[in-house]
Amino acid sequence: MRFQDKTVIVTGGAGGIGAAIATRFASEGAQVIVTDMLAEGAEAVADAIRATGGRARAFAADISTADGCQSIVANTMATEGRIDVLCNNAGLMRRGNILSITADDWRLSFAVNIDAMFHTCAAALPHMIAAGGGAIVNTASQWGLHPAPNHIAYNVTKAAVASFTQNLGRDYAPHKIRVNAVCPGEIHTAMLESGVKRSGRTMADLDKLVPYGRVGKPEEVAALVAFLASDEAAFMCGSLVEITGAQAVA
Ligand SMILES: NC(=O)c1ccc[n+]([C@@H]2O[C@H](COP(=O)([O-])OP(=O)(O)OC[C@H]3O[C@@H](n4cnc5c(N)ncnc54)[C@H](O)[C@@H]3O)[C@@H](O)[C@H]2O)c1
Repeated sequence: MRFQDKTVIVTGGAGGIGAAIATRFASEGAQVIVTDMLAEGAEAVADAIRATGGRARAFAADISTADGCQSIVANTMATEGRIDVLCNNAGLMRRGNILSITADDWRLSFAVNIDAMFHTCAAALPHMIAAGGGAIVNTASQWGLHPAPNHIAYNVTKAAVASFTQNLGRDYAPHKIRVNAVCPGEIHTAMLESGVKRSGRTMADLDKLVPYGRVGKPEEVAALVAFLASDEAAFMCGSLVEITGAQAVA
């Protein structure tokens, strides 16, 4: 129960990894704000958490705008009065190299994958500073550290998430606000399945590419996020933690 009486925001909470993160924090006592632009998906995750005795509330917001991001923080402060942990997990993948990706997809990737973190963190940090501390965990990607081919917008935005995390970690460590990022490899979610189908491969094919013998589970990323947000990770600030089953980017 590391998060008893803590308030945790999880963006992208309707998605594969976000739902697992929200569920994990709730299982350790947190009041979780499950936020996503998919209102019904966020409600379903919050309902499932409450059905098993946890505490969760859904909040619909589109984080591709500054207003959407700020509304999440404002709503949480108005209803809960505190933000102990902010998990910037929402993200999207637009495929293509520089000659095939559209300018709109390039801009949307930046808006959702990195600009949104600027806006949520800028809104949440003053509250964390006033409270004397807090934790932020950003979801980057292994591909932000080692780019996979033909995903330039995704890779560049995730590299920006990595640098953003190191910058924030450094700037706010004196305020006892720890900012870290997880960098997952292949994790079994809808995002991964759509890519596998498109490539004509099967999940079994993908499992064979991972030295550990299988792709990762959302719950495994959630366990790492919870650790980084917990007091057990007290000296971790500005860290980028890969979780990949030892798979190299091909
Ligand atoms: N699945 C993987 O293999 C993998 C690997 C590395 C990193 N990641 C990262 O993990 C995070 C979660 O990914 P996932 O696999 O659970 O994908 P997902 O598509 O299941 O979940 C992403 C969620 O973000 C939400 N979202 C997207 N745009 C939004 C917007 N404008 N406003 C509000 N919400 C928005 C979606 O509605 C969705 O629920 C992402 O940042 C992704 O880049 C995933």
